[in-house]
Formats: sequence, C-alpha cells, structure tokens
Amino acid sequence: MKSWLVTGGCGFIGSHLAERLGRSGDRIVVLDDLSSGRVDNLPSGVEFVKGDIRDAGLVAEVMRAVDGCYHLAAIASVARSNEDWAGTHAVNLTGTINIFDAARAAALSGRRLRVVYASSAAVYGDCTDIPLAETAPTRPLTAYGADKLGCELHGRVAFQVHGVPNVGLRFFNVFGPRQDPASPYSGVIAIFAKAVQEGRAPTILGDGKQVRDFVYVEGVVDALTAAMAREDLTCDVFNVCTGDATSIESLARLIFEIYGTTPDIKHGPPRAGDIRKSVGNPHRLRTVLGVPPTISVADGMRRTLDWMRSTNR
Ligand code: NAD
Ligand code: UD1
Repeated sequence: MKSWLVTGGCGFIGSHLAERLGRSGDRIVVLDDLSSGRVDNLPSGVEFVKGDIRDAGLVAEVMRAVDGCYHLAAIASVARSNEDWAGTHAVNLTGTINIFDAARAAALSGRRLRVVYASSAAVYGDCTDIPLAETAPTRPLTAYGADKLGCELHGRVAFQVHGVPNVGLRFFNVFGPRQDPASPYSGVIAIFAKAVQEGRAPTILGDGKQVRDFVYVEGVVDALTAAMAREDLTCDVFNVCTGDATSIESLARLIFEIYGTTPDIKHGPPRAGDIRKSVGNPHRLRTVLGVPPTISVADGMRRTLDWMRSTNR
C-alpha cells in the first residue's frame, strides 16, 4: 500500500483527486486549512489534517510518512491575487517552497519523494502564440501567474540542487462539480450558473470576447495521477488543456441554453490583468503523459449544472 499527501484536498480539484486515489486502497492524507475548501467534499477513509501550508513544521511532519505529494493548496483566484498581493504570495509561492523543502529533507534521509504540483495557464499571461505550447514565452500579468511561474522555477531548484523529482501541471480553466458556486472568487462557470439558477443576470467582465480553454475536472485528475506514476519524469511541466477555445460570451449563451432561459447579461469593467486569449496545446499531455481527451465542454457543463441542482449549492 502506498501513501499520498494531497494538499488542498478539501477543495474543488483536490477532492476529485482524493476520491480517485481512495479507490485504489492506498492511504490518503489531506492537508487543508479550509479557507475555501470544505470537509464534506472529502470521501470517507481519508485522513484529514487541518493546517496551513505556510506552517513549515507541520508540512515537514505530514510529509514524513508519505510516498509522494500532490500539491494543490493555493489561493486559486486571480482576482484575490490582485487584491491581496503579499498574502496570496505567502500561500502560493512560499507555501510551495515549504513543500519542496520538506521533500528535500525526505531525500536527505534516503526517501525519494515525488511532488506533482498545480501550476497554471496564467504563467503565459499575454503571450499570443495560440495554441500555447509549453515552450511558449511565459509573461504573467498577475501576482497569481507570477507566483505559479515562481513555483516552476523553484521546481527546477528542487530537482537540480536537492534531487527532488517534480512535475508541474499548467491547468487551464478547470470546471466541474464541487467548484464553489457561492464564492465571488470562484470560476466563471460556477458563478454564471449560480446567477442563472437564482434568476439574476450574470455579469460579463469586459466585452466577453476573451477566450478560455475549459477542461473538465476528470481530465485534470487523469493528468495528476499520470504525472505521479511517471517516475522517469524528474523535472518537467505540462499543459492540462483541450486545445478548444470558448469565449465568455458564448459560455454564457451555452449556460442559458442548458437552463432553457434567456436572461439579460450585464457588462462590467474588465478585470485588471485579465488574459485575452488562453488556449493550450495538449500535444505533450496526450503523447508524453498519455492522457486522453475527456468529455466536451457542453457535456461537462450539463453534469456540473445537474450537480448544482441536486445539491442546491
Ligand atoms: P480550491 O480553492 O477549490 O482549492 C484550494 C484548496 O486549498 C482549498 O481546499 C483551500 O481550503 C486550500 N488552501 C488554500 N490555502 C491554503 C493554505 N494556506 N494551507 C492549506 N490549504 C489551503 O481551488 P481549485 O480550483 O481546486 O484549485 C486547486 C489548485 O489548482 C490550485 O493550486 C490552483 O491555483 C490550481 N489551478 C486551478 C485552476 C482552476 O481553473 N480551478 C486552474 C489552474 C490552476
Ligand atoms: C482561472 C482560475 C485560475 C487558473 C486559471 C488558468 C479560478 C477562480 N481561477 O483563472 O486558478 O489558474 O484559470 O487559466 O478558477 N469573468 C466574467 N464574469 C465573472 C467572472 C469571470 O466575465 O463573474 C471572466 C473573467 O474576466 C475572465 C473569465 O471570465 O475573462 C474567466 O475568469 P475566471 O473563471 O475567474 O478564471 P481565470 O481568471 O481565467
């Protein structure tokens, strides 16, 4: 039996990962401070430690008895990184260094512990080489994107200097059940769907022509487990995306269509540092990590909206 640490396991993506890992019969430990996650997202049988990744001593303690760490804990909102620059930095970058540092301590005591961590498409910023391959220039526009790029740079240090094998996954816009619809800092799909369910007009920030590459959460879990399993990958980054572009305007229309409504749309000012075009090239994800495509945005959206209706969240 193997033993895995999932940081941020009470959150949206982390809880889907914990569920998948739990099915294998392995021991799963989740470290989460519940700042945006919920304990009731966790499947049964998981060991839960309530704590903060900024607490280096605690991180070292929970890392001591595991074979690998899936590091997902972060403040996942670009908008929050604009509002609280230093605070999000402490979690998103310093917290990640604490994870690598604890893995280094394990390496020094003879245990080679792998780290697979969440990076982001935000590292590309305003790069226009669409679809974005991993070799495209990284030009983050926000503190969130800069910190995710910082995680990748420290990932290089972790392996080159300290022998900690690691893989960063540049998730594009992930969606699916358990993405918190109640939080204004949540992903756009959850926010729009909640508004339509409550009979409110969703607000498009800017002209709505900005595009995103929406990837269903199941495909993200496939990528995480594939990256952990590939012990030959010692220091690498991969896009986790579909290659398909959806504008925010057409996303709103798709949600209205699924709900069978035609509410008004409000427009608000564009968000500072909002990326205009974010579409990834999934070539290495498919050929090197061997992760197949999952369901379409429309089908994923139907599943997500069904979940929202059935849980009333
Ligand atoms: P989420 O907010 O649902 O999950 C993050 C989890 O981390 C939450 O359970 C939260 O309580 C926990 N957490 C936050 N700060 C913590 C701290 N200091 N100590 C311990 N736990 C802490 O977000 P998510 O969408 O599931 O994102 C997971 C990861 O994927 C994040 O690293 C995020 O930056 C990254 N990511 C997400 C997306 C997306 O579209 N959702 C895209 C790219 C990257
Ligand atoms: C999202 C993720 C981030 C991830 C990145 C990777 C969340 C909260 N953020 O950021 O963690 O690293 O993808 O690509 O999941 N919008 C509106 N109206 C709203 C909310 C948003 O028009 O009410 C627009 C935004 O201006 C943006 C688009 O929708 O253009 C997507 O916004 P959002 O879901 O917050 O995601 P990203 O900023 O792309």
